[in-house]
Amino acid sequence: METLKIAAIPGDGIGPEVIAEGIKVLEKAAQLDGRVQFEFTYFPWGCEYYLEHGRMMDQDGIDQLKKFDAIYLGAVGYPGVPDHISLWDLLLRIRKSFDQYVNIRPIQLLNGAPCPLKNGSKQKIDMLFIRENSEGEYSGAGDWLFKGKPEEVVLQTGVFSRKGTERIIRYAFETAKESGKTVTSISKANALNYSMVFWDEVFEEVSKEYPEIQTYSYLVDAAAMHMITDPERFEVVVTSNLFGDILTDLGAALAGGMGLAAGANINPEREYPSMFEPVHGSAPDIAGKGIANPLAAVWSASQMFDFFGYNDLGEKLLQAIEKLLEENEVLTPDLGGNASTSEVGDRVTEILCELI
Ligand code: NAD
Ligand code: IPM
Ligand code: MN
Repeated sequence: METLKIAAIPGDGIGPEVIAEGIKVLEKAAQLDGRVQFEFTYFPWGCEYYLEHGRMMDQDGIDQLKKFDAIYLGAVGYPGVPDHISLWDLLLRIRKSFDQYVNIRPIQLLNGAPCPLKNGSKQKIDMLFIRENSEGEYSGAGDWLFKGKPEEVVLQTGVFSRKGTERIIRYAFETAKESGKTVTSISKANALNYSMVFWDEVFEEVSKEYPEIQTYSYLVDAAAMHMITDPERFEVVVTSNLFGDILTDLGAALAGGMGLAAGANINPEREYPSMFEPVHGSAPDIAGKGIANPLAAVWSASQMFDFFGYNDLGEKLLQAIEKLLEENEVLTPDLGGNASTSEVGDRVTEILCELI
């Protein structure tokens, strides 16, 4: 039996609440299946840790994490610690240190999930966002000039390297090749006259290597509109770090809300551990109430199974989520129910027992 060593970083706010359910589901699925088992090690890193120790994670935290097969993270950021400190010192540090340059975020409307669109359906809303996750607008490079003075100017630089741009676009094409889907690039070359012109050129170049794949290219503003009016046109979507961040929250809204939005931060070369985490944040407005929807965390766990080659188990987890939504009985308040976070986790594991 294979043993997978997972670093669990529950983090802040609802992070620990949803990660507890995700781990419950992962362990149940593994136990029912019998081919794999998990060994979880918990790291208490986050904003509380920062208030006590003056840092978000141990100084050698990245070295500690290197030993693991994967990382399962809840959410980072909480009032009391400035967001740019908490996120750059933990979540973004991990993504960058482990070169998790592919952020895979499915925007897939499951049966039973609420959709704000009049004609929204499972057939129409089925996208796979491949978000560049290592550079671009999140280069972290910038400068503050004349801080606090009337002349104050702040610069923040976007960095788009050939290596970084090419590899994310190629990853999108390889993904589409496997599934026979189209690839859409979302950029903004009309206004960002260096970085996005370059992005478009690289997209054009790489697309020539895949003549059998149909491609589309949209400006980000128009793409946001099309995602609402005609979501069907998007299949595999590749975009920059910031555009991917914004559009995947929009996509989450199309596919049932933040409580159902899953993500995987992948280092495809497997030189470093990859990280699985829901798209949502720490949700301070509902934290501690036991009503956070754990399904995004469970869906991210399903992506973890896929990553390790247990695609059948990943699929079973997704089926269990869909069955729970279709039953329409045990749902958290964001989906119109009155169940608690752990009741939803329990029901998913019960359904899994019927499926595996
Ligand atoms: P958020 O995603 O935490 O919350 C946005 C809204 O969605 C809130 O109304 C919240 O209640 C709701 N929501 C989110 N997840 C939910 C769930 N599982 N079930 C039910 N409702 C859910 O975004 P925010 O409020 O902008 O950010 C809060 C904090 O989280 C900030 O510090 C932010 O920087 C951080 N953040 C972290 C991550 C991450 O760790 N990956 C992602 C986004 C935001
Ligand atoms: C996400 C989050 C992060 C991002 C923040 C918290 C830095 O919004 O994972 O979508 O922008 O990548
Ligand atoms: Mn985001």
